[in-house]
Amino acid sequence: MTIENDGLQLPEVGIWAKEKYDLVQTYCTLFTGSMKPPKWQSLVYIDLFAGAGYAKIKETSEIVTTSALRAIDIPHRFDKYIFCDINDQNSSALQKRVAQHYPEVDSHFICCDSNNAVPDILNKLPAHSKDFKVLTFCFVDPFKLDNLAFSTIEQLSKRFMDFLVLVPTDMDANRNVTPYMAQTNNTVERFIGKPDWRDRWALAGNKQFGLFILEEFSAHMQELDYKPQQPGETVLVRNYQKNAPLYRLAFYSRHDLGKKFWKETKKQNDPQISFLD
Ligand SMILES: C[S@@+](CC[C@H](N)C(=O)[O-])C[C@H]1O[C@@H](n2cnc3c(N)ncnc32)[C@H](O)[C@@H]1O
Repeated sequence: MTIENDGLQLPEVGIWAKEKYDLVQTYCTLFTGSMKPPKWQSLVYIDLFAGAGYAKIKETSEIVTTSALRAIDIPHRFDKYIFCDINDQNSSALQKRVAQHYPEVDSHFICCDSNNAVPDILNKLPAHSKDFKVLTFCFVDPFKLDNLAFSTIEQLSKRFMDFLVLVPTDMDANRNVTPYMAQTNNTVERFIGKPDWRDRWALAGNKQFGLFILEEFSAHMQELDYKPQQPGETVLVRNYQKNAPLYRLAFYSRHDLGKKFWKETKKQNDPQISFLD
């Protein structure tokens, strides 16, 4: 379906972003399709880096819907949507697009640094009880390591929550080893939530820096009782015109069923996406 330019904020993205949007939409479809009542009484979607709802593909000028609207455009919707973005033009464009296309949806828009939004987000989540179980899927889609503090994920993880996290392994980490290694730079420490990472990196041999960061992030998620996420289970998204790896999408759940949905999501999606061995 062709989407017309509605004159609102329209970020430009590379054509590979469509793979990410497809994965989010497929995962949301499987998640809500299976976890809907009576299993769980309330399903919530959080997009910590929500964007504007539409984006323009640089290479083709095509306008596409992005993660936030893809998470709504599914057969069984979530009961509640919480969208956070630091950019007020993105946030207000998304709000207008949701109001125009999905006025009936229970949606909340928080315009600030998502790392400062946790109390607000937690306030908006319905209260969980034995008779009213609340399950959340949180999509975490930063541009770069610096956008996300692990403490944000840690605080949210106190609720029943699965995460899909874009780890900018290649487009950021691998390109910036030198600045991130500087003792005064706390970007990596903040992203993986561990102050002593430099000691382990010193022993990592010739491992890629991006892969090291992914493994550190996953190890910290495991400490929060999430299932192990091997690098081979993540999706590697490439700029396939240049055959250049960009980032990895890593999925975290405390339950085997979540991992099963992620596996199925990968299976159903674009063959252009390569998986790590
Ligand atoms: C890679 S884009 C993701 C967009 C969105 N998920 C989508 O599918 O279009 C990153 C978004 O995060 C926003 N952003 C960057 N840093 C942020 C922060 N610290 N807190 C909240 N939003 C942030 C940017 O304004 C941008 O819209």
